[in-house]
Amino acid sequence: MTEISFDGRVAIVTGAGGGLGRTYALDLAARGAAVVVNDLGGSVDGKGGDDSAAQKVVDEITAQGGQAVPNYDSVATPEGGESIVKTAVDAFGKVDVVINNAGILRDKSFLKMEWSDLQAVIDVHLMGAFYVSKPAFAVMKENGYGRFVFTASNATFGNFGQTNYSAAKMALVGLSNTLSVEGARAGILSNVIMPVAKTRMTEDLLGDFANYLAPELVTPMVTYLSSEACTTAHGNYSAAGGRYAAVNWALGQGWYAGAGVTPTAEDIQAHLDQITSTDGFIVPQSTTDEIVALAAHFQAPA
Ligand SMILES: NC(=O)c1ccc[n+]([C@@H]2O[C@H](COP(=O)([O-])OP(=O)(O)OC[C@H]3O[C@@H](n4cnc5c(N)ncnc54)[C@H](O)[C@@H]3O)[C@@H](O)[C@H]2O)c1
Repeated sequence: MTEISFDGRVAIVTGAGGGLGRTYALDLAARGAAVVVNDLGGSVDGKGGDDSAAQKVVDEITAQGGQAVPNYDSVATPEGGESIVKTAVDAFGKVDVVINNAGILRDKSFLKMEWSDLQAVIDVHLMGAFYVSKPAFAVMKENGYGRFVFTASNATFGNFGQTNYSAAKMALVGLSNTLSVEGARAGILSNVIMPVAKTRMTEDLLGDFANYLAPELVTPMVTYLSSEACTTAHGNYSAAGGRYAAVNWALGQGWYAGAGVTPTAEDIQAHLDQITSTDGFIVPQSTTDEIVALAAHFQAPA
């Protein structure tokens, strides 16, 4: 097996002052990447700030002979995103990889959730990913090469108390899927990771199960998706405890009412088995793929 190298590559890892992001930054740097270690250094619920988080990881990398610079901006403002990308360009001349990893939690059941809890989570996870990725995309497009990894979560499957978080995380799937379409011609690939790991964010929630879930067991998937060796985009991957699995946003064959027929709600009820069947699932790679699948129904002989 050829070793996956990041020699000559420049990577930004947001929220890399601890938890999962730190492990990504360390692995990329050990493989030759010059890394911008971004972290605001706040609490799990996104309050406060402390430069020492990012600085410590930079010190770890440089002590091991790697190259890294810190950045302490919040991803949650356009200026912060610009500044993170500028840090990479000023220090290392370009950006090849962006791992959008910074994150916070403001868990509350739906009716108890304050608008400020929604706003804070959307600002960091979703807006933050836009604010960092847009200026980075411009640099990558110029260079004809780029790799994005966005961080979603199994909360997208539905998790009590996480309407804000699961909505923000699911939105990142849409962002990555469309960046995959827009980036294709410029050699820019985008994928999504859905990690499960023991970090300060989860250790109280996972109990003994956390012992199976070292963050370093997520890292290989993220490193692969960030590398030249990765040639596929538009993926979502669950990575947890040494098990790596694609998660698909898939389309069933469904039920077609027939040309010229306007079915009733009762017809829908009667055909629910076909409508919800997973037989013949496809994983559309773009809107066009759904239109093509739809057209096949229209063109099939009655
Ligand atoms: N740990 C898990 O099991 C798990 C599961 C699903 C998703 N995730 C996601 O993985 C990512 C990493 O989480 P983690 O578990 O390592 O938690 P963590 O709290 O250890 O790491 C998150 C980091 O993001 C930083 N951060 C927060 N807001 C920021 C901002 N505005 N700007 C810059 N940095 C900011 C924090 O300071 C922190 O260091 C998050 O996006 C999280 O939602 C984690």
